[in-house]
Amino acid sequence: AIDPNFEQNRDVAEQHGGHRVWGAVDEPEQLGIHGTHVAVDFDICIADGACLEDCPVDVFEWTDTPGHPESDIKADPINETQCIDCMLCVDVCPVDAIDVDPG
Ligand code: SF4
Ligand code: F3S
Ligand code: ZN
Repeated sequence: AIDPNFEQNRDVAEQHGGHRVWGAVDEPEQLGIHGTHVAVDFDICIADGACLEDCPVDVFEWTDTPGHPESDIKADPINETQCIDCMLCVDVCPVDAIDVDPG
């Protein structure tokens, strides 16, 4: 599961699509955590898609990640500033790849 304390335990490696990427990043096998308020651990995501389907405000968009061992697309929290903290995505992700930090 995603580390809920990733902000303490990781450093910002880069920016992507307007959000932070928390390292370590070593493409294509290691991609880090994308987003901060809505954070998706790309190294855990298996592209199940439930988060994209269920988010009421369309926070997520697919990002291509060819060569990653778990999946070649990931749910990217492109619109994390739109999040209304409903926690649906956290509940539906089968591999607990998402952390949402209300407030
Ligand atoms: Fe979307 Fe709700 Fe998840 Fe926020 S908590 S990203 S609004 S599903
Ligand atoms: Fe990935 Fe979980 Fe969404 S596996 S696509 S973050 S539901
Ligand atoms: Zn991203």
